[in-house]
Formats: sequence, structure tokens, C-alpha cells
Amino acid sequence: MSDAASPMLEIRHISKRFGELSAVNNVSLTINKGEIFALLGGSGCGKTTLLRMMSGFETPSEGSLLIDGEDVSKVPPYQRPVNMMFQSYALFPHLTVAQNVAFGLKQDKLSKAQVQAQVDAMLKLVHMTDYAKRKPNQLSGGQRQRVALARSLAKQPKVLLLDEPMAALDKKLRSQMQLELVDIVESVGVTCVMVTHDQEEAMTMANRVGVMHEGEIMQVGSPSEIYEFPNSRHTAEFIGSVNIFSTKVLHVGAEASQMSCADMACRLTVEGGVNALEGAQLEVAIRPEKITMARTRPEQEDNWVQGKIHDIAYLGGHSVYHIKLPSGMIVMVTTTNINRHAQRLTWEDDVYLYWSAASAVVLYQ
Ligand SMILES: Nc1ncnc2c1ncn2[C@@H]1O[C@H](COP(=O)(O)OP(=O)(O)OP(=O)(O)O)[C@@H](O)[C@H]1O
Ligand SMILES: [Mg+2]
Repeated sequence: MSDAASPMLEIRHISKRFGELSAVNNVSLTINKGEIFALLGGSGCGKTTLLRMMSGFETPSEGSLLIDGEDVSKVPPYQRPVNMMFQSYALFPHLTVAQNVAFGLKQDKLSKAQVQAQVDAMLKLVHMTDYAKRKPNQLSGGQRQRVALARSLAKQPKVLLLDEPMAALDKKLRSQMQLELVDIVESVGVTCVMVTHDQEEAMTMANRVGVMHEGEIMQVGSPSEIYEFPNSRHTAEFIGSVNIFSTKVLHVGAEASQMSCADMACRLTVEGGVNALEGAQLEVAIRPEKITMARTRPEQEDNWVQGKIHDIAYLGGHSVYHIKLPSGMIVMVTTTNINRHAQRLTWEDDVYLYWSAASAVVLYQ
């Protein structure tokens, strides 16, 4: 992405209210040229509403929207340089694959040869050349999705909007199509905004992810940033699993800060300072894969707990252990199953869990 730093889509303080309900609340967001950006969040958090405002199908109650430097707030959907692929794909059942792809182009008064050349190029792009004469009901789910994608890209939009693009596909096909869609979108170079409630899908496909909750964007970052440095309890819990310790600040230092925690016999230490006064309550998150489990007590003074193995989920590549602490708190630990015959720890075993100060993330909201 050579021009990744130049903005394609600028959303400025956009809100959408439906009567009393605030579906999207004061969202500002910049999406760069050539980026694949995912809006990620639970059901009803306002993802589709925000995407529809980008497309022009929904009018904002407040705020403005620029595409490639031009204010499109008052421009109707069909005149915006965007294309939205709907969840159901909405292919025309009575038209062939080729006719579906050509549909939008014919309205543009191109010559027959120009339309044909563009249809051919699009079908080649999505590997559907051999299916040009079929009708949508003669295609598999994945093939139908590729046709919908070809149709969306045929008019060479500046921005491609995808609402739950994988929703109609089964799990296996979904992960295959995720990678294929990224390849196609990147080869065309179109800027893409996609909506999903599936964190794995967002992390697999997007360069950056915006985590939405109750109409607001909680955090924007690369997949690794939002996973490793979540800024809120909501983001930490929504993206992957996490253990959250409720602590009280004992000491704030430049190198490290210490907390006390009712669930721990020792102190909890985090790297660097924290943005709170001594005595304040703070939540600290630790991902299950950052924790080491052992039969013997670790040498480190801080950042360990002792407990009993309460539950084990064997998932093939890794296992998830649930450790019950004397306080009753359950701590999750994941271990990678490298050795088939490894002597595993089992139910009711007493274990120590420990982690480094660098693995702990302070949550401020
Ligand atoms: N046309 C409408 N009239 C009234 N309320 C609406 C309308 N469209 C959406 N809403 C409400 O706005 C909120 C956000 O809806 P939206 O469709 O944007 O959610 P979403 O994040 O896309 O959810 P999902 O993952 O379930 O598709 C919901 O509470 C929804 O009921
Ligand atoms: Mg939706």
C-alpha cells in the first residue's frame, strides 16, 4: 500500500438516531486508501447503520462524510463512488452470471464491447469465467458470493462496502473465502470497509479493526494492537478470552507499578506507570496464553497464584485449563500441545500459575 497514509473515507462526528434510540453515536473515523477496514461488534451495536450511512442508503442525524476529499453527505447512493454488497448478495435470479455482473454497467451507457470486456475481466478476477452462462440457483454459496463480488467491483468503485460478507457460507468455506476475498480486494486495490460480528474474520481479513459497542467506536487498531493492548474491558473480552483481576493500586513507579488483589497471595506488578492514584481500583487483564502453569512455585516474587485444576478442554492444537483459586476465581490458561505423549497435568492437580509484568494490561474503562 504505497499511499496508505492518504485518507479515502473521512467520517466526522456522525450520529444516527431512530426516535429515542441512538444507533450510532458521534463516530469519527478515517479509513485510508487501499485499506481493508473491519467494523467489529456484537449484534445491534450499529455496524450496519454506520455502513449504510457510508453508502448513502441511510441519512445521518448529524455529522458529515467525505470520500476521496469530497463531501458526499448530500449525495444520493447511486452517485457515490461506492458499492455495497449486501448480506444476501441479492443476485437477480432470472439473469445469468454474466448478465448479473453486467447489470450496473449497462446503466452507464457503455458500448456493448466495453461491457463485455469488463464482465470478462471481473469473472476472471473471481475465477468464475466457466460459469458465465449459469443462473444463480445453479451455483454453490461460495460461487454466488464471488458473482456478487464481481458485480460490486464491475463499476470500479473507490470504496467497497461489505455487510457480513461470509454470513451465508459454512465454516470451512468461510475461512477459504476470507483469504480469497482479501486477495481479490488487494489485487484491485479498492478500499474496503467490512462489517462482521466474528472477531476471527476481522482479524484474518482486515489491516485495521474498529471495535464497536452501543453505537460507539471503542478502539481502532491493527489486529495485534487490539488483541495485545485492549483499552477497555469490553474490547479485551470481545476479542479472545481474557482473565481480569480486580486490583487496588499500591505503588505507581516509572519502571513498574504494584497492585494488591484479593484473589492473589502476592502482589500484581505491571510494567511502567499507571494512570491512577495509589488506592484507586483498577482492572488488569492477562491473556490465557501468557500464563505459565507448573507444579512448583515460581522463583519470581510477584505475579503468581496457586490453585487447583478445575476443568480441561482439549482442543487438539491446544488445551484450555480452568484453574480454581482459593478465592473461587477461575483463571484460564492455554497450553500448546506440542508433544503427543507429554505427561499432562490433570483434574484436581495443585498448580502454580505465573506471568511476567509485561503481559499484564491495565484496563481503564
Ligand atoms: N430503520 C430502523 N428503524 C429503527 N431502528 C433501527 C433501524 N435500523 C436499525 N435500528 C436499530 O439500530 C440499532 C443498530 O442496528 P444495526 O442494524 O446497525 O446493528 P448491527 O450492529 O448491524 O447488528 P447485527 O450484527 O445484528 O446486524 C439496533 O438496535 C436496531 O434495532
Ligand atoms: Mg448488521
